[in-house]
Amino acid sequence: MTVALLTGCDAVSQNTTITVAEGELPRTLAASHVDAGRYLVLVGGCNDCHTPAYARTNGAEPAESEWLKGSTEGHTGPWGTSYGKNLRLTVAGITEDQWVEKLSTGTSLPPMPWPGVRAMSDADKRAVYAYIKSLPGEAGTPAPAPLPPGATPPAA
Ligand code: HEC
Repeated sequence: MTVALLTGCDAVSQNTTITVAEGELPRTLAASHVDAGRYLVLVGGCNDCHTPAYARTNGAEPAESEWLKGSTEGHTGPWGTSYGKNLRLTVAGITEDQWVEKLSTGTSLPPMPWPGVRAMSDADKRAVYAYIKSLPGEAGTPAPAPLPPGATPPAA
């Protein structure tokens, strides 16, 4: 079943038609899929690692218009140093179905919380895609490539 589930007031919401498989209801209820996606990004903590300054400013920075552009603040451990990728570039390069596939099967270096992301319903994954697509402004540049174990990361 394909449904245009929402009648949001803003232009972004009106343009957001989400395909929901029969029997697969969103677990997150909100006024629109974009709103549901924003909620999931917030409670999922995606900004902590995918948005610079967010974690260390307790969410005060940066403005929402800068969210999810990838971070230069690395995570160092036995795996080396990893950087939260620019998710705007990720969604720009793939379809909604490919995003669902990625979130359902994804693996990468830590500390990306794949088990939690995999556990989202497909409809919720689609809502996150819609939200990231709705973010204003430029998509930005890729986050730094990961560094191997033992390499000293540059200051963020
Ligand atoms: C604790 C830190 C952390 C949190 C929280 C986090 N991520 Fe990540 N994420 C990462 C890191 C680090 C990578 C890149 C790992 C690598 O380079 O192998 C990544 C990679 C990804 C990728 C792969 C991107 C690509 O282009 O291949 C996706 C998709 C993703 N994260 C989505 C999310 C979503 C959605 C959330 C919130 C629900 C989230 N992440 C929360 C750290 C995090």
